[in-house]
Formats: sequence, C-alpha cells, structure tokens
Amino acid sequence: MANQRILERTARTKWFNEARFGMFIHWGLYAIPARGEWVRSVERMPQEEYLRYFKEFSPSQYEPRKWAKLAKKAGMKYAVMTAKHHDGFCLWDTGLTDFKAPNTPAGRDLVKEYLEAFRAEGLRVGLYFSIIDWRHPDFPHYRDRQHPMRDNQAYDNKNRNFDRYLEFMHGQIRELLTNYGHLDIMWFDFSYNDMAGEKWKASELMEMVRSLQPHLIVDNRLEGSGENSGTILTENPTPWAGDFACPEQMIPPEGIRNELGDPVPWEACITLNNHWGYAATDRHWKPADMVVRMLVECVSKNGNLLLNVGPDPKGRIPRASIEILETLGRWMEDNSESIYQCGNAGLDKPEWGRFTRNGNKIYAHIYEPQTGGICLPNLAGKIEKLRLLAEGSEIKIADYWNLAEYKQHAFFFLNSHSFDNYPLPDPIDTVVEITLTP
Ligand code: GLC
Repeated sequence: MANQRILERTARTKWFNEARFGMFIHWGLYAIPARGEWVRSVERMPQEEYLRYFKEFSPSQYEPRKWAKLAKKAGMKYAVMTAKHHDGFCLWDTGLTDFKAPNTPAGRDLVKEYLEAFRAEGLRVGLYFSIIDWRHPDFPHYRDRQHPMRDNQAYDNKNRNFDRYLEFMHGQIRELLTNYGHLDIMWFDFSYNDMAGEKWKASELMEMVRSLQPHLIVDNRLEGSGENSGTILTENPTPWAGDFACPEQMIPPEGIRNELGDPVPWEACITLNNHWGYAATDRHWKPADMVVRMLVECVSKNGNLLLNVGPDPKGRIPRASIEILETLGRWMEDNSESIYQCGNAGLDKPEWGRFTRNGNKIYAHIYEPQTGGICLPNLAGKIEKLRLLAEGSEIKIADYWNLAEYKQHAFFFLNSHSFDNYPLPDPIDTVVEITLTP
C-alpha cells in the first residue's frame, strides 16, 4: 500500500504527468564567458575575476515573452529557469545579497519578467535554485568536490559558518516562494557526498516549502543528483525525497519505478547541444528528428522531457535552438495528442518505432517503413479503427494474401500502391492513432 507521502506526490504531479514537455532555461553571468555554467569551477576562477562579468551583464535583447511564445509553439506546457546557479548570481531582486541582476547594468528583476511572460502565454512556471553557492563566504571552499577554490589552501574553511549559509539559502527560497506568486515547480540542484538531506536542513526547508505553496512540485535533488535518485525510489521516501526524479542527459531504459514496482514521476533533462549554459563554440546541435524521438521515448516510458536552451549574453535564444524548436512545433501541431496525457502503452516496443497510449487510444510512432505492412503485434481483432493522426484520414487494416499466415497480428499500409510504406508521410515520426474496440 502506497504510504501517505506517495499518495500526496501522485496527486501533486497529475498535471506534470499530463504535460509531458517543458523548457529548461540556463542563463546568467556565465553566458558572457560562453564556456558553460561551470566555467568558474572548471577554470578555478576567483570571484574577483568573475566579477568583471557582473559589471558587464547587460542583456539588451532580453524579451522573455519571445521565449515564452517559442516554448508554447514548440508544444511545451511548462518552463523552469535558473533563478540562481552554482555561481551564486541571483536573477531576481533578492534582499539577501548584492550579487543580483538588478545591481548589474541590466538593472532588472529577470525572474519577475520571466514568470510574467510565461504565465501570459499559459505555461506553468518553475524555478531552478542551486543549493550550492560558490560565491557565499560560508559555503565550503577548500577541498570541496567542485568549488572553484577547492585546491587553494588560502581558501580554507576555518571561519566559515555553514548554519549561517543555510539561513541565507532558506531565506532566498522563502523570498521566491513568497514574493513571486504561484509557482508550479522548484528545481533544486544538487546533493553530493555528505552534502545531502539534513545537511541542507532539508526537513525544515520542505516544511516551509509545503506551507508556503502546498501545490508546488519539487525535484529529488535535496538528497539526489543526476547520478543518484535518492529515497524517491523506496516505499518510504523522506520528506525531502521530492515529487519527481530527474535523470540527466539520458532516458532511463525502462522508465522509473520504486521498489514496490509503482511508477515514479520522472523528467529527463537534456541539452540541445552539450552545454546547459550558453557555449559559443558548441555547435553540436541535436537534429530535430532526434529531439522529437527523445520526447516520444520519454512519454512511452511514462516520463517527461525538460529540454534546455541556453540564452546568450544579450538574452537571445541561439538561432540553432530556435530552428530545432520550430521544427518540433510543426510536428507537435499535427501529433500532440500522442504526447499530452499519454504514457506507456503496455506493449513491447515494436521494430519500426514506439507506442504511446492514452486510455483506449494507442499511438503508433513509425520511424522506419516496414516492407509487408506495418505490423501491430497481437492486435488482430482488437482494433476499431486506424487514423493517420496528423490529418484524421482512414487507414485500412490489411488482409493481403501474403499476410495470411500471421493472423494474430494486425497489419496496415501507409500507401495502397505497394507492399512497403515508403516514403512515410512524415519522415520524422508518422503517427497512426489506433482506437481499440471497447
Ligand atoms: C548538473 C549540472 C548543472 C545543471 C544541472 C541540470 O547538475 O551540474 O550545471 O544545471 O545538471 O540538470
């Protein structure tokens, strides 16, 4: 029997499991060096050196409404933007540090504008909040696993007061949950070594979160990370186990279930190139058809896709990202019924693509033409009708002589003049809606 915390998690994540598709936005000072959001750690950059970007940050072309329209057109139902990344730079008008966007030449509360813009386009809104803070003087420096000054003994931890850091961290989260209206997601990042769970005073933090915004869903990184899901996979999750798991830069081979075998809400967070934050020289963009198929794969395994964009120093989403999302949007315009409110079909993965399902509708996502008809294994006699989802046109179940020996399966052709299905109506992913007989 699922315990109370699992029942509450299931109720809170209903919209999330139906939405299936969101935009991740990694943006901040690190867009200027343009070598990814870990540039301070990777290059062991002192804060003083990093401050030159603070003095320069002036995103003259930041128009979050454009971002929101792009996300909506791509078929995304929610968004999560970095309020603060590991560098400690705050994109909102926090009262707890001067290291914030309003104090840069930008002179704006970037979070406020993001939230207003995405809500105006009808998307749900979330914030990414780094529980790691490389700027804060009370956060461990020397010998920390990844702090920029981890190798420099001059930055030893003698006079650091971690409780004072936690007061600051909890205070900032309270600000975001109090001063910015209804939020839908808080995306914490991340725990490591002994820096996990109650080290962050996670039970106190979650009491505050649940009291301020009881509907809010939280990821699992108050105790986990991209390499460890934590107790969300157990039958007795901790109060800070989170409402969904977040595999990173991969899609779990069989989705995610807990030790009872019950599905756990999950969301794969994946970049369009190989960086979260803007990286000027990283032109290794995933092709649009691969991104469509990533989304279908997540849904076919009862999961979500949180697809990342990394805006540049001026506040523009890179043109290559826009082009991929626009192609995605055209496919979603025709086929979003096979994504929203869909999940695992309860069928083996077919040779030609994948299945998703919503009640008595199964969606065949066809990536490869199959000679001799597309085979729907063991579905003979169980199908009321087939329709090409993009247009609603009828597809007839085939009863050709050459299929006579395979009566337990159903077959269909996507064109009536040949024994193959080439070319597919949509080479990215042709979706056929299968209505099962009652
Ligand atoms: C990892 C990275 C972090 C990124 C996050 C996104 O934790 O360290 O930079 O924001 O993944 O999931």
